[in-house]
Amino acid sequence: MPDEPRPAPARSRALGLWLTAIAASAATIGGLLLLQNISERKREAQHPFLKIADLTETTIDPAEWGKNFPSHYDGYMRTADNQSTRFGGSEAMPVRGGGAGEPPRAKAESKLEADPRLRTIFNGYAFAIDYRERRGHAFMLDDQRDTERVKQRPQPGACLNCHASNVVAFRESGIKQGAPGTLQDPLNSESGQAQLFKGFEHVNAMKYSDATQLVSHPVTCLDCHDPASMALRITKPAFLEGIRALAGSDDPVPHLPSIAQWRRTSRATPYDPNTLANRQEMRSMACGQCHVEYYFKGEQKRLTFPWHKGLKIDQIEAYYNEVGWADWTHADSGAKVLKAQHPEFELWSQGIHARSGVSCADCHMPYTRQGAIKISDHQVRSPLLNVARACQTCHNYTESEIKDRVDIIQSRTKAQLDRAEIAVVDLIKDIKAAKDAGATDEQLREARDFQRKAQFRTDFLNAENSMGFHAPGEALRILGEAADYARQGQIALFKSAQPRQPSPAPPR
Ligand code: HEC
Ligand code: HEC
Ligand code: HEC
Ligand code: HEC
Ligand code: HEC
Repeated sequence: MPDEPRPAPARSRALGLWLTAIAASAATIGGLLLLQNISERKREAQHPFLKIADLTETTIDPAEWGKNFPSHYDGYMRTADNQSTRFGGSEAMPVRGGGAGEPPRAKAESKLEADPRLRTIFNGYAFAIDYRERRGHAFMLDDQRDTERVKQRPQPGACLNCHASNVVAFRESGIKQGAPGTLQDPLNSESGQAQLFKGFEHVNAMKYSDATQLVSHPVTCLDCHDPASMALRITKPAFLEGIRALAGSDDPVPHLPSIAQWRRTSRATPYDPNTLANRQEMRSMACGQCHVEYYFKGEQKRLTFPWHKGLKIDQIEAYYNEVGWADWTHADSGAKVLKAQHPEFELWSQGIHARSGVSCADCHMPYTRQGAIKISDHQVRSPLLNVARACQTCHNYTESEIKDRVDIIQSRTKAQLDRAEIAVVDLIKDIKAAKDAGATDEQLREARDFQRKAQFRTDFLNAENSMGFHAPGEALRILGEAADYARQGQIALFKSAQPRQPSPAPPR
């Protein structure tokens, strides 16, 4: 595209004006305190605000933060709005209540009803029971509590990591388990971190039904911001561990320069995004705490991001093969298979925007004008509902042209995704037929291996939520491989059913 790559727009150009305005009002309303942010490496501009509420390490309630930052709070609350786009956004449909006489509730659209192939692909796994479209952050805790995957299958407390404000819950539980210090210690102090990790380990292994009683809010201000400085900070233990593992790999990550820099040091202290990442990296890492592929490791159900070899799908798969992980055994085919979950951070990492230094927040939380100042829009949502601010700051085309370009990318991805899904379903049916006809495990081994590869690739793009936009070329590469592996699986089956003759294995 002909546009000049531009860095994220500098914040608060009108800061001087605002300062004057605040100084004037502070002089008249003498009682109010003007709190100036402590100057902090990650922040280009200083953000003064009227300090009405005293925000601390235990202020979970976003309404308290809203007293100091009313516009941010308004945006945050609007994540409850439902507005849909062709492949994204949110749409809630009324469904029958759980019990007799219950009023209908609004639920996100069912992916299983929209695409019945998914019932075959996930057969034997909880995702074949209930699997819906995502919607805004305001719903994350309710939707998790309400899914049949939780109601019909036992789930661990580890599910809560990405669906609730859990910093304080983890720390409280850590202290109960013997971690040092108090809740008022800064989160990033030694004792604060000890509490957080101890609580993480304890809550992960709890039963979901018990663990969910420890929390009361979806993600809130405290999960992304330091209450003293308002700087972004990483609060999720699994991300801290995952990004450390990634730093230790040799996967090139040009879009995360602080990792490249850390790799050139003696590596005596582990990589820590909270001290090393620059502000632009933090504007993506804040989202990478949840919008990522994951699994629960071992009996302790430790939430783990599989980035030990790198962020690309092949490296994630290689890691799972090495540790011998399978999400479930497929009910029809008997293959040990993988399910991907929302790998937005991983796919974005392979795209031109990441490469050009464009962060998640640039598109999903663009600057918006509030009187004389600019703030980050806290109504996190589809950028296609806000093209003027999300895209046109960098791309000098009309809104309809930009939307057309996105639609071309998404339609191509959708067409390839359909082909890949059809191929996977064909393979599953053939393996099942061979199994029912008496084929041995050894005869089915190769075809099942191909199913695992094809299924994971197809699902990676199905579970990723941008329909290919975050990295169009990578999306089509993955789906091309998926269809090929599924068809190779059918060929392997055909050959294994032939009377024994030495034949070369098909190329992998
Ligand atoms: C260059 C802009 C851009 C960047 C950078 C970007 N996205 Fe997106 N994202 C989009 C577009 C466009 C869509 C498609 C929206 C649609 O179909 O309505 C999308 C879709 C999504 C969706 C689904 C939204 C919905 O309404 O269904 C999620 C979740 C998401 N992105 C998360 C992320 C995360 C996390 C990052 C960073 C790791 C990121 N995005 C980086 C532009 C971007
Ligand atoms: C604590 C975990 C967590 C963090 C941090 C997080 N998200 Fe989400 N996000 C979720 C969950 C869970 C959902 C789905 C909620 C549901 O469907 O009920 C979601 C949904 C979304 C959606 C879909 C909204 C819609 O209207 O359909 C977008 C877009 C999105 N997130 C982008 C982001 C971006 C950008 C960031 C970083 C600024 C971010 N998220 C940070 C967990 C998180
Ligand atoms: C690593 C973070 C993370 C963990 C752990 C996590 N989720 Fe989510 N979840 C998300 C994000 C991000 C979304 C929104 C994107 C999407 O729906 O693909 C989401 C969406 C959902 C949704 C709404 C869409 C759907 O799939 O029907 C449900 C329900 C849900 N999760 C349940 C669970 C359950 C149950 C667990 C534990 C087994 C769990 N989540 C663990 C991050 C996470
Ligand atoms: C999912 C993470 C997330 C949550 C939750 C969140 N924010 Fe933010 N916030 C961000 C990001 C990303 C930025 C941009 C930071 C930057 O550019 O350095 C930001 C910036 C800010 C800023 C700095 C000024 C600006 O507009 O850029 C303030 C103030 C702020 N948020 C207040 C809040 C308040 C109040 C809440 C709760 C109602 C909240 N935030 C919840 C991610 C979050
Ligand atoms: C902060 C600046 C910035 C923002 C915001 C931004 N882009 Fe981009 N976009 C870029 C850069 C830089 C490139 C790479 C162009 C180049 O270097 O030739 C790019 C490339 C693209 C491409 C070509 C993709 C490819 O893979 O070749 C499309 C399409 C695109 N952008 C659409 C969008 C849309 C839609 C949005 C809003 C959701 C958006 N961009 C937001 C800077 C931005």
